[in-house]
Amino acid sequence: MIYLADCADDKAILANIYRYQMTDYGNWPLFPGSTKFMKSESPHALHITVHVNSMAFDAIESNAQAMPNGSIVVADNYNDNLIIESILMKKKITNRWFWGLITPNGTIESAGFDSNNRMLVECINCHSTAPRDFTHLWQSEIAPNQ
Ligand code: HEC
Repeated sequence: MIYLADCADDKAILANIYRYQMTDYGNWPLFPGSTKFMKSESPHALHITVHVNSMAFDAIESNAQAMPNGSIVVADNYNDNLIIESILMKKKITNRWFWGLITPNGTIESAGFDSNNRMLVECINCHSTAPRDFTHLWQSEIAPNQ
């Protein structure tokens, strides 16, 4: 069934991205304007730390309207004790965001561009209300409250 094959492919894509392109994401710059373990305003977690790769960083710093293909944004979600609970990511591929949810031990839970997956639809629905390029943090008046 094509539907299942597509899902399996998406998970394989994310496994590859996680393994080969996100190895050192903890050393990437923070999303400009954000802080480590900042208080989250989303249902994600109580605290989040958001890293961006250099392409994403450059796009944000140059005030682009959207991030270019290859951009990766990773949000580490922490509970109140600052124990990591999940890793949310998105990568721009063929001008669309590819979304993913990974457990702290590296298990791929969900991955894909959209539709087939109920949870991803929720990600996209909420992120489509973001000010710029499905990215809630990408606004001028960000004021991290932590
Ligand atoms: C109900 C709204 C909502 C849903 C659902 C949601 N997010 Fe977010 N997301 C946010 C907000 C708001 C932020 C800004 C940081 C914060 O306050 O947590 C954010 C931040 C992020 C970031 C950091 C970059 C950015 O966009 O600001 C990533 C990556 C991300 N979310 C991925 C996901 C993924 C993957 C899912 C689905 C598994 C998801 N989100 C579901 C609201 C949402």
